Amino acid sequence: LFSGLEPRPSDPLLGLMTAFRADPRDAKLDLGVGVYKDEHGKTPVMRAIKAAETRLLADQDSKRYLGGDGDIRFVELLEPIVFGDALGDPARRIGIQTPGGTGALRLGAELIARARPNATVWTGDPTWPNHTPILRAAGLTVASHPFYDPRARTIRFDEMMLALGKAAPGDVVLLHGCCHNPTGADLSIEQWDAVIERIAERDLVAFIDLAYQGLGDGLDADAAGLRKAWSALPEVLLAYSCDKNFGVYRERTGAMWGRFADADTAAIARGNILALARTLWSMPPDHGAAAVRIVLDDPELAADWRTELSAMCERLGGLRQALASADPRLAYLAEQRGMFALLPVDKTGVHAMRDAHGIYMTDGGRINVAGLGIDDVAPFVDALRP
Ligand code: LMR
Repeated sequence: LFSGLEPRPSDPLLGLMTAFRADPRDAKLDLGVGVYKDEHGKTPVMRAIKAAETRLLADQDSKRYLGGDGDIRFVELLEPIVFGDALGDPARRIGIQTPGGTGALRLGAELIARARPNATVWTGDPTWPNHTPILRAAGLTVASHPFYDPRARTIRFDEMMLALGKAAPGDVVLLHGCCHNPTGADLSIEQWDAVIERIAERDLVAFIDLAYQGLGDGLDADAAGLRKAWSALPEVLLAYSCDKNFGVYRERTGAMWGRFADADTAAIARGNILALARTLWSMPPDHGAAAVRIVLDDPELAADWRTELSAMCERLGGLRQALASADPRLAYLAEQRGMFALLPVDKTGVHAMRDAHGIYMTDGGRINVAGLGIDDVAPFVDALRP
């Protein structure tokens, strides 16, 4: 049977992690996978999460199943953080814990495929390289609209709007909630308004991926576009990740929410969501969600989490400023947000930097800004010069 399998290339990002680990040089720099690092290049467990885990270890008296929704309290506690005042009618909303943001994306994609098997999902060019494979794995057709001009370093907004103007009613538009991956270029609030209007007038559905809330401009600002869409549109899906903002990457902690046209549709959607989750992972892993729940349920831990997250966000902003000041070619980085940036370097340049300096980034020239220490900025910019 298995001799019929076609060889498949390894995932470029995971391949980059392996190549970095295998590099024997001491002075190497990992700017590949999107993992927050502190000034010393470490990704420590966040203080509040550590405290919550200690509590969890002491108090947890059972590992029995929680059910298909996962940790319901975890989902409830996240809701005010994610949606703020835009939460809306609970009868039209479904929220479920998922294994990471990827699990939420896959679950949303499967739901779309059940509702409308021939729907096209529109993604920006470029987008996170895993978006298209996830959507296609659910059987969906993926089309791409212009999003970012790497030469001008700006969003190709007019072209994006033109492309969305051609989407068929019932098609889906996948949007990055904040801290766009891989470009760092986020829609302005006016652009969100215009996109939401286009989605409404074309009878499209918004599917929003929010994986970096709190790492761009702060928790509320980073959710502003999502909240507008959630309030204005009859149907929205949200894939949410706690990996980065709670630093629980390997615990696979996320959630998916759906907002539906009315309570009856929501009830049927809920049955479908639970049935799909049952075939995908049955019930989501507990540990990360339990730790996040303990943090958010305790005012002191929650406050400490917010403080630490703000410091992480500030460090990213400081690094962006430092890169922008160090090289006029990188001035645009100060205007963009989050962990990722696309640099003016092609694949040959990327490989040359890897060979000569042990600097690892994706072939497309994406860096994880958090991989730099402030003292790395000057040598990094020097290495970037042609
Ligand atoms: C990234 O883009 O580096 C992160 O989202 C991690 C991943 O799974 O790709």
